[in-house]
Amino acid sequence: MIRVAPSILSADFTALGADINSISDAGGDWVHFDVMDGVFVPNISIGVPVLESVRKITDLFIDVHLMIVQPQNLAEVFCRKGADLVTVHYEAAEEENVLAAIRTIRACGKKAGISIKPGTGAEAIRSYIPLVDLVLVMTVEPGFGGQGFLYDMLEKISSVREMIDSLHPECFLEVDGGINEETAKLVRNHGADTLVAGSYFFLAPDRKAAVAALKD
Ligand code: DX5
Ligand code: ZN
Repeated sequence: MIRVAPSILSADFTALGADINSISDAGGDWVHFDVMDGVFVPNISIGVPVLESVRKITDLFIDVHLMIVQPQNLAEVFCRKGADLVTVHYEAAEEENVLAAIRTIRACGKKAGISIKPGTGAEAIRSYIPLVDLVLVMTVEPGFGGQGFLYDMLEKISSVREMIDSLHPECFLEVDGGINEETAKLVRNHGADTLVAGSYFFLAPDRKAAVAALKD
């Protein structure tokens, strides 16, 4: 089963409620919620107060992607304020702190994910796979919506798929960045099961058709 997770980074923040409702109307599965701190990535986006508001208006599964340093400090508050899943970056802190963040998320009863940037190899996260519910392979440099897909990442997606199949088959494999109907087909063929789409979804003239194209 393929899940589509529209990233509200590309939504209209003056009409966020309507844009979030359009996700379920279009057949989308999750709300992808990008948190940026201006340190881990060269941009700042949205955080806890917005998450709290979004939680109040949707029953959709909220997939929080933390692009912040030292995520162990804020993992719990994102869980308490409405996340269903919180993903932290492998590169965001020392290993013990990344592991602490994952333990905190799971202790809150939420799903935990680990993400790798384009420059990090698949092997780096082998030991995390049994500990997490999702691996997120970035297919652009994190920080901005609307960038071009990095085709070099396809091989990495296949490697992660092999590791998940042997170590933890229930683990989700998500990809994020530059996903459109063409790249969706490629990542699905390389083993991705959860597709984040920001600009492709929110700029689509017909969002229902956009979700169908990503799943097709
Ligand atoms: C990038 C974010 C993405 C972004 C994707 O750092 O993690 O979720 O919104 O946007 P598109 O789909 O436009 O590449
Ligand atoms: Zn993201």
